[in-house]
Amino acid sequence: MTEPRVALFPGSFDPVTSGHEDIVRRALAFADRVVVAVSHSPTQSKKPMFSVEERVRMIRETFAGEPRVEAAEFQGLLVDYARRIGARVVVRGVRTVSDWEYEVQMAAMNRALAPDVETVFLAPAPEHSFVSGTLVRQVATLGGDVSRFVPAAVLRRLVREEPVPVVRPEEIV
Ligand code: PNS
Repeated sequence: MTEPRVALFPGSFDPVTSGHEDIVRRALAFADRVVVAVSHSPTQSKKPMFSVEERVRMIRETFAGEPRVEAAEFQGLLVDYARRIGARVVVRGVRTVSDWEYEVQMAAMNRALAPDVETVFLAPAPEHSFVSGTLVRQVATLGGDVSRFVPAAVLRRLVREEPVPVVRPEEIV
């Protein structure tokens, strides 16, 4: 029997978005299993909105109906984790040219560290091309409607968050 093809989709997922969901579903076309893994060492230095545990839980709930998708968390180097779980492919979504520059650099570093782990870039459907965790956090915090941009498991948590109080111009002294 051939070994199952495991694809690792790593990220901050703060929170997981409909764009990430789209990428996972595309990866299932060529992988037997997709492990969506939240990194404890994020690229952003800002305080996260959700804890790693909460982010993993939201991913798990989002893909509850898909037995081939697993939610996980990892510490340390991505390539070490990939090898540990038997993933030969790392999946990353690319939306924009600026994504591309960052992603190519990261893929090259990962290849230098682990030539046996291949990075595969996937483009989301156009309707997700502007969706990011950062923008979702910002819009949700300011009271905007993000229901089209996040899975239900995330929306439930976001609407529970207190919106930022609106300050009227006349109140600013
Ligand atoms: O969603 P993000 O923040 O763009 O994901 C970035 C992530 C988590 C994939 C990246 O920072 C990462 O791989 N972190 C683990 C530590 C590591 O291996 N760093 C070297 C990668 S070149």
